[in-house]
Amino acid sequence: NNVNVAPSAAIGPEYKHEKPNATVSTEIQYPNVHILPQTPQLIALLTMIRDQNTPRGDFIFYSNRIIRLLVEEGLNHLPVVAHSVTAPTGRQYAGVKFEGKICGVSIMRAGEAMEQGLRDCCRSVRIGKILIQRDEETCQPKLFYDKLPEDIAERFVLLLDPMFATGGSATMAVEVLKSRGIPEDRILFLNLIASPQGIAQFAERFPALRVITAFVDEGLDEHNYIIPGLGDFGDRFYCL
Ligand code: PRP
Ligand code: URA
Repeated sequence: NNVNVAPSAAIGPEYKHEKPNATVSTEIQYPNVHILPQTPQLIALLTMIRDQNTPRGDFIFYSNRIIRLLVEEGLNHLPVVAHSVTAPTGRQYAGVKFEGKICGVSIMRAGEAMEQGLRDCCRSVRIGKILIQRDEETCQPKLFYDKLPEDIAERFVLLLDPMFATGGSATMAVEVLKSRGIPEDRILFLNLIASPQGIAQFAERFPALRVITAFVDEGLDEHNYIIPGLGDFGDRFYCL
C-alpha cells in the first residue's frame, strides 16, 4: 500500500515557515536553579499568558499547562529507588519507584492557582498554605497566616508561587518552612516567571534549595513588577 506523502505534509518538528526568532529565558549560573527546556510549546504557552489581550479563561487554561510542566519537572528532582516488576508477558522490567513523602505549600493567593496541577500529578497530596501579601506601596512582604501539615518536617515540600519578583515573599515563606524543621535541600520552589534579581538573592541565601522556573525575565520595573512579565498573576487568574 504505497502512500505518497507530499513534503509539505511531512509530520515532525518542522517550522511552518522560517524558524521564529523568539525571546528565550535569561541563562542562570546557579546549579540549583533549573529552567524548563525552552521548547516551541513552552514559548507559545508563555506568549499566550503574557498577552494583555488574553481573556481570563484562556489565561487559566494556558497557565495550567505550564504549571503541569513545572510539577512534572519538580517530581524529577525527588529520589527514587530500584523497583522491578513482572509484565503480563511474564518478563521482568527493572524500573524505579518514588521514595519519600511529599506535600505542597502554596503562597496565597496566586500560589493556590498551582495546587490543582500538583493534585493532578500526585493524588490526594497534602497541601499547606502560607498567606503572604506584598505591600502595594513598599513591596515588602507581610506574613498573615500559615497552616501546614503536622508532619511536614518529614516531607519534601513543593513550594508554589507563580511570580518571583524581588524574592521577598518566597524568602519569607522559606523562613517559615525552615522554622518548622524542613531543611533547605528538601524544598523545591516551583514558579512560572522569575526576575534575575530574585533568583540571585534567593540562590545565595538558600544555596541547597532547588528552584524550578519556566522563565527568567529581563528584570523589574519601578513598581517591582517583573518585565516584560505578565502583570498581576492573581488578578488575571482570579478576578479580571
Ligand atoms: C505576588 C506573587 C508573589 C509576590 C512576588 O503576590 O504571587 O507572592 O507577589 O513578589 P516578590 O517576589 O517581590 O515578593 P501578591 O503579594 O501580589 O499577592 P496575590 O497572590 O494576592 O496576588
Ligand atoms: N506579582 C505579580 O503578580 N506580578 C509581578 O510582576 C510581581 C508581583
